[in-house]
Amino acid sequence: MSKRILVTSALPYANGPIHLGHLAGAYLPSDLYTRFQRLNGKDIIHISGSDEHGVPITIAAEKEGITPKEVVERYHTGNKEVFEKFGIDFDYYGRTSSDTHRKTSQDFFLRLHEQGVFTKKKQEQFYDEEADMFLPDRYVKGTCPVCGHPEAFGDQCEKCGTSLSPTDLIDPVSAITGNKPLVKETEHWFIPLGDFQPWLKEWLASKPDWKSNVLGQCKSWLDAGLGERAVTRDLSWGVPVPLPEGKGKVLYVWFDAPIGYISATKEWAEEQGNPDLWKTYWQDEDTSLIHFIGKDNIVFHCIMFPAMLKQHGEFVVPENVPANEFLNLEGRKLSTSKGWAVWLHEYLEEFEPDLLRFVLGSTLPETKDSDFSWKDFQNRVNSELADILGNFVFRTTSFTHRFFNGEVPILSNSSGLDTETLEQIGLQKKKIEKAYNTFKFREAIAETMQLARIGNRYFTETEPWKTRKENPEACGNTLYVCLQICAAISVMFQPVLPGKMALLRNQLGVPDGAKWQDVNNQLVPAGQLIGQEEILFKKIEDDIVDKQIEKLNLRAGESTTQKNPFPPLKNIIQYDDFASLDLRTGTIIEAKKVKKSKKLIQIKVDLGFEIRSMLSGIAEYYEAEDIIGKKVCVVANLAPRKMMGIESKGMVLMAEDSQGVLHFVSSEAEPGSPIT
Ligand code: 2FM
Ligand code: ZN
Repeated sequence: MSKRILVTSALPYANGPIHLGHLAGAYLPSDLYTRFQRLNGKDIIHISGSDEHGVPITIAAEKEGITPKEVVERYHTGNKEVFEKFGIDFDYYGRTSSDTHRKTSQDFFLRLHEQGVFTKKKQEQFYDEEADMFLPDRYVKGTCPVCGHPEAFGDQCEKCGTSLSPTDLIDPVSAITGNKPLVKETEHWFIPLGDFQPWLKEWLASKPDWKSNVLGQCKSWLDAGLGERAVTRDLSWGVPVPLPEGKGKVLYVWFDAPIGYISATKEWAEEQGNPDLWKTYWQDEDTSLIHFIGKDNIVFHCIMFPAMLKQHGEFVVPENVPANEFLNLEGRKLSTSKGWAVWLHEYLEEFEPDLLRFVLGSTLPETKDSDFSWKDFQNRVNSELADILGNFVFRTTSFTHRFFNGEVPILSNSSGLDTETLEQIGLQKKKIEKAYNTFKFREAIAETMQLARIGNRYFTETEPWKTRKENPEACGNTLYVCLQICAAISVMFQPVLPGKMALLRNQLGVPDGAKWQDVNNQLVPAGQLIGQEEILFKKIEDDIVDKQIEKLNLRAGESTTQKNPFPPLKNIIQYDDFASLDLRTGTIIEAKKVKKSKKLIQIKVDLGFEIRSMLSGIAEYYEAEDIIGKKVCVVANLAPRKMMGIESKGMVLMAEDSQGVLHFVSSEAEPGSPIT
């Protein structure tokens, strides 16, 4: 184990509030780990902050009709506060719009530039003339070439998940003005990640203990071969490229954001009154750098940033990247745009932070996606926190008050069961610390709760309500043992339940500064007075969680009605009705606008076995000459029909999007192929 640990949690984009998915991905695990290691006496700092650059911010600004600066001001402060309220114990929560960050990331870029690492290349990129800007991938929309989704983005189709380039899109338009973009030449700096491949391979091979989901993703990237990656962008929002020829360009957000961990550590060191202290954490080899992230950030933290750090030469590289998978909500994929999310600030209006810390911690998506549901939340709070832990503490402390005047009894002539039970404290402690050290937080929590189960079972088995009359010494022993377990739990459950365990320590008289090493089977000495019993965890009634479920459904429903501009589904048909349609693929080989018609284009479609003449009502959306060569799907057995005196022998299928725009339905199959 290294001398010190530097924990970072992914910098969340300051483009919206924090929700349960954020917590489960990075911030709760990082906080559990940091709190445990701090309790364990380790030199550890926990750094995070707002990611305030990149397209996610500018898109949010456009959506809300405010400037990017206003967006980040709004969410940076709100998110910082909500993390604090939830007990996420950052040593420093920075932001990438700070001066320190601008300088740090520019210096980083310049160093790599001076080392001659970057290649500078011209590339063709979409340009919106009206908005007078190059369009980042996310700013280009069009039809997905894979699934035909008309609203696919230039970097990804959110319907089928395919990762795309803007030029892959069919009929690309600018997301800003809706105009057809031009293709213009621009120049960017690229990092040749391929050059780092041998080092990355060797370095990753030296990490066999990393989580398999993380190593698996890294292996796929390496197997596919690492290419070049542009580290600059044509945008006005971000860290300016610090070179005269970089005017009007900024650093790519995934270049500057991870450097944000370094800048935030610098600001933390300033705040400590020791400005050079950051160097100890970033430059001394005896540091373990641990990045907590969600799975969508793996490539950046396990490939790109390590390559940058290695190349720079003055920094340590990550020791571990225990990335989590995704959290679903009530069995569905979490989606902020669809209103399917639980926002942390809303949760905190109704419930205490510790309850969610426990429930989410017990169901973290550590090895595969997991699910949060309000009923499970209620169940775990009621049956574990209230019925097991709360009940155990309550029966122990109230019994001590009723029959021992609130004093910890003496352990004398202890039975085999008393001793064995006391020994469980040490045994569980070992299991729990091993789980924390290997990033198995679910297990750490389950094993801590196990101690309360052991205590409860022992209380029931030793029947102090009987022995108090028949054998007061044995009754005292039961209470002594149970109080030691309560005291051990009050320290060992601190990473998960910081608020509640502070109350419990106070009640039992366990010093607040008690460390992991202090946990033993005599934490509260005989004769010590303990505070009056209290209910640590109240049960949650059905109507309380029902309200939350209703709220979620209502919001998702509202967002679906607002966002579903498509007509309702038609009546169900039988298979035979469908089978009677003869759908075929074809290619448009001729097209001309029908004179005097606003809508009609006359086309000739090659159906493989014949050439067909058809009319299509698409003239408002397409120029005739632009559609020649388009691959289409047609209804080939539709009865012929005359329009404007011209016969149409079939119909070309079109999809009408939410804006009423018509898009071709295409297939790559050779002309004439039946669509079945
Ligand atoms: O995915 C995200 O929310 C990014 N803002 C995470 C950045 S992590 C780091 F590199 F800063
Ligand atoms: Zn798609």
